[in-house]
Parts: sequence; C-alpha cells; structure tokens
Amino acid sequence: MERLDKLLSSRADLSRKDAKNKIKNGEVAVNGRICRNPEQKVDAATDTVELNGQAVDLDEHIYIMLNKPAGVVSATRDNRDKTVIDILPPDLKRPGLFPAGRLDKDTEGLLIITDDGELAHKMLSPKKHVDKKYIAKLGGEITAETIERFEQGIVFADGTKCLPAKLETDEKYGSSTGIVTICEGKFHQVKKMFAVCGLKVVHLQRISVGNLYLDSKLPIGSAKKLTKLDVSSIFVGKIH
Ligand code: URA
Repeated sequence: MERLDKLLSSRADLSRKDAKNKIKNGEVAVNGRICRNPEQKVDAATDTVELNGQAVDLDEHIYIMLNKPAGVVSATRDNRDKTVIDILPPDLKRPGLFPAGRLDKDTEGLLIITDDGELAHKMLSPKKHVDKKYIAKLGGEITAETIERFEQGIVFADGTKCLPAKLETDEKYGSSTGIVTICEGKFHQVKKMFAVCGLKVVHLQRISVGNLYLDSKLPIGSAKKLTKLDVSSIFVGKIH
C-alpha cells in the first residue's frame, strides 16, 4: 500500500506538490470515487486511480514503443534538441523514463522507452545479442559482394570488427535499399558498415528489436504502450 499522492506523482508526470494539489482539488478518483485525501493508502495491484477522469497506469514499470521521427535525440534531456521523452504524449509520461538504446538524430523507427533499468540492461547487454533490423536506403547499389562482406563481419578503419550481419534486398524496394540485421549496437554501426563498402546511407529506419516489430499503423512521432507479451518478444528470435 502506498500514499495516493506518492503513487500519483510516481506514475503520472507530476511533482509531489502538484499531485497533492490535484487530489485536494477533487481531480483524483480512487476506485471510481473522488478522494481528497493525499494520505489515502492505495494498493497499486488492486485499486484504480483516475486523474480528471483518465485512468492512471499503476503498473510498476511502463514500456513504450515510439516511432521515432528524424530530428529528435535519443536522450532524456538536451539543451539544443527535442528529445524522445519530450515528444511523448502526457498520458504515457512518468518520472524516470529513458530510451532503451539509441537511434541517431536522423534515424527513424522503433525505439523502446521505459523506466525499467533491468529490462534495458538485459536488452542492451552485448552478451544477449538481441537482433535489430533496419531498412537502409542507400546512395548506390548493393552487390553480392556487399552481402558477403556483411556476412563475414565488417571491419572498420580503426580495426573494430563487427559480428557477422545479415544483409538482404527485396524486389519491392530495389537494390539500393538494404534490410540489415545486426546483433550489436556500436556507434553509427549501420552507417559505418555501409561506408566501409563505399555506400552512403541516405535514410535509416529501425523496424524491429528481437521479435518486436514496429507497428505499421503507428504514425511517425507517435507512441503506444506495450503489453508484457510485446516486451517478452524482444528476447525471441536471433541470428546468433
Ligand atoms: N546504426 C546507425 O548507423 N544509426 C542508428 O541510428 C542505428 C544503427
């Protein structure tokens, strides 16, 4: 059991003081009834809380799929640019959210945002080898040799060796678009892998992490809450 003001401020994007004021103002209902007592004890597992008629998600952790647009940075705070946290809708915001992994400022697509450090650690751990799939539009054509080089493991100019990666093409996109699957997360990895092969990435979109695919109905810039089943699919299906 937790105090209502404390629970509300930890699950909604509110300071403790704002949570208290909203409760006193009659904006908060517990189990369908307005509750004006900030000290009211609430059981997050069984009780319901509404703020101005909107259900507050009381789960301990939240997992969000963002279809990241270009132009925002994968950070929690930034002095210059908008962050992926800034663009979340208010009903999904709560304290402690961060992006689990990074996409470059100009990369679009699937980004998972959570307040669950343990999950992020598991997802990003190099040992876990979670596959990430990207669609890369290129300034040139993919050849059989490019595919072979990806398969062998690309070596960057500084000697850094990448694990073998899968590079595919699809008739529907043509030979200057690659579908790349990597299981690591080196800085600018996909762009650098193509650069080694003399190809410039002109547009990059991530479409999956593990077996969790970007919802094709989710518009660019929009976000949705993931279910536990969605989250578990991150750890299914690997190339290594
Ligand atoms: N590889 C890149 O080069 N950029 C990204 O944003 C993700 C993977």
